[in-house]
Amino acid sequence: MKNEVKIEVHCTVNGEDKKYHNYPMERLLDVLRNEGKLTGTKEGCGEGECGACSIFVEGELVNSCLIPLLQVKDKNITTIEGIASENALSKIQESFLIYGGAQCGICTPGMIMAATSLLKEFKNPTEKQIKESLAGNLCRCTGYTKIFHSVVKALEEDQN
Ligand code: FES
Ligand code: FES
Repeated sequence: MKNEVKIEVHCTVNGEDKKYHNYPMERLLDVLRNEGKLTGTKEGCGEGECGACSIFVEGELVNSCLIPLLQVKDKNITTIEGIASENALSKIQESFLIYGGAQCGICTPGMIMAATSLLKEFKNPTEKQIKESLAGNLCRCTGYTKIFHSVVKALEEDQN
């Protein structure tokens, strides 16, 4: 990577225009965390297996540890920091807080991004769809039950 020349990449992150200056193949995960100071996105495995680094690029859920900076030129990115509104957490974030969906918190941003993606796709997902949507995200702490419960509760509240 040392022989490469740094490039400038413009993109939109959480609704704001951003310009990053880094190597073309630098992992988006690192650019967001180090240059962008958006440390909500976590690194777990670093190889596309755990979902901790999940973000949205053009509305699609992706693993930011697998995406080179070059690939997001002029793209629209949302990280966990962009999920809450100015004054309030999202329903899913709130539910994780209330129902104990987070312990150490490393997997939590990825879980919330995955659940948010599910809700964008289905208004009223089944249990199976919820489980499938979270299946790509690994958690070492919770045993998954509280995470699943947090998502179910968020859905229930969304429908009230
Ligand atoms: Fe990216 Fe695990 S850190 S999928
Ligand atoms: Fe620790 Fe999930 S809360 S890895």
